[in-house]
Amino acid sequence: MIKYIGSKRKLVPLLGAVAAELPISSACDIFAGTTRVGQELRRRGLVVSSNDLSHYTEQFGYAYIVADGGEDRTALQEILDECNQLEGYDGYFTKTFCEQARYFQPKNGRRVDAIRDHLDTLSLSPPARGILLTSLIEAADRVDSTTGVQMAYLKKWAARSEKDMQLLLPETVPGPVGSVSRCDANQLAPKVETDLTYIDPPYNQHSYAGNYHIWETLVRWDQPEAYGVARKREDTKTNKSAYNSKRSAKDTFDDLLGNLSSPWLMVSFSNEGYHESDHVIVQLQKQRKFVKVLAVDYKRYVGAQIGIHDLKGNKVGSVSHLRNKELLFLAGPELEPLEAACDAAIRQELAEQHT
Ligand SMILES: C[S@@+](CC[C@H](N)C(=O)[O-])C[C@H]1O[C@@H](n2cnc3c(N)ncnc32)[C@H](O)[C@@H]1O
Repeated sequence: MIKYIGSKRKLVPLLGAVAAELPISSACDIFAGTTRVGQELRRRGLVVSSNDLSHYTEQFGYAYIVADGGEDRTALQEILDECNQLEGYDGYFTKTFCEQARYFQPKNGRRVDAIRDHLDTLSLSPPARGILLTSLIEAADRVDSTTGVQMAYLKKWAARSEKDMQLLLPETVPGPVGSVSRCDANQLAPKVETDLTYIDPPYNQHSYAGNYHIWETLVRWDQPEAYGVARKREDTKTNKSAYNSKRSAKDTFDDLLGNLSSPWLMVSFSNEGYHESDHVIVQLQKQRKFVKVLAVDYKRYVGAQIGIHDLKGNKVGSVSHLRNKELLFLAGPELEPLEAACDAAIRQELAEQHT
């Protein structure tokens, strides 16, 4: 999976353990990003609806939430083998992201140009296309020269960028076949019919459209006007999410909650962002009968690595400036499942601390 800021990589097992305690059979991951939370919910047997504003998340959704293994994987592997052999050539991608900017070495950029053009010549089902585009994005991500966001590239080439890009077949995620959409979350909210909605919105001013403009262009393949040193898409100037503005984020979030009819809600926020926990609790209490909050210190190992904790995990110095707590809010119509979910989260945390 790609490097993605705000991605719930470390929190996924805990979110899965929590969801498993709720009396639900379907879930909407309404700000899906990499889709990794939706994938975990699918693995746990839920029918997942995956949604995000971005075109690249839509393709991840086809690969990981919709594809069911019924696709001809031998044929897909053959296409990828062919892609891995294609001769590269200069195109929009090389010019914009390897010459005007230095996100990728030109040898890999040229291959992206050739492979992406080639994929458009094939007649593919949406899941097959999603699998191949996901494979290309993940391969390019493994040889990029950034710190994980596409606002800037490194001054000196990253060591990984020297490697030759290699496309691999994404794994099929086991579980029921889900669905995918590319909507504004607030517009989608009144139509969501799942038992659970998981809400993980952007939490500060940094826009995902700007941070991941290359993946957006790679999927849309529309050769947009690019501007500035970062060579971002011209439309990132106007395509702003209301969640990225301090002024509108709270009201937009409240509006979203007010329009969701899923009985169970799971919300996660970093405590570094715009949303204050007290406000979130009050809003959830307005909408659902019971609310529970968990604080997950998911970067605790950072502290441990730099010697602020001893080997047993005991605190031996101040880490308040480093602590990055992820807050998890659970809301629903019955207390017992929420309490069981909190117990499961604590067991999961303890289990992880001992691994
Ligand atoms: C914090 S990230 C989600 C990360 C995700 N849970 C993961 O683990 O990869 C927030 C996501 O919200 C999407 N987004 C921003 N504004 C949106 C909106 N108004 N409607 C739907 N998605 C939006 C962004 O594209 C981004 O992928």
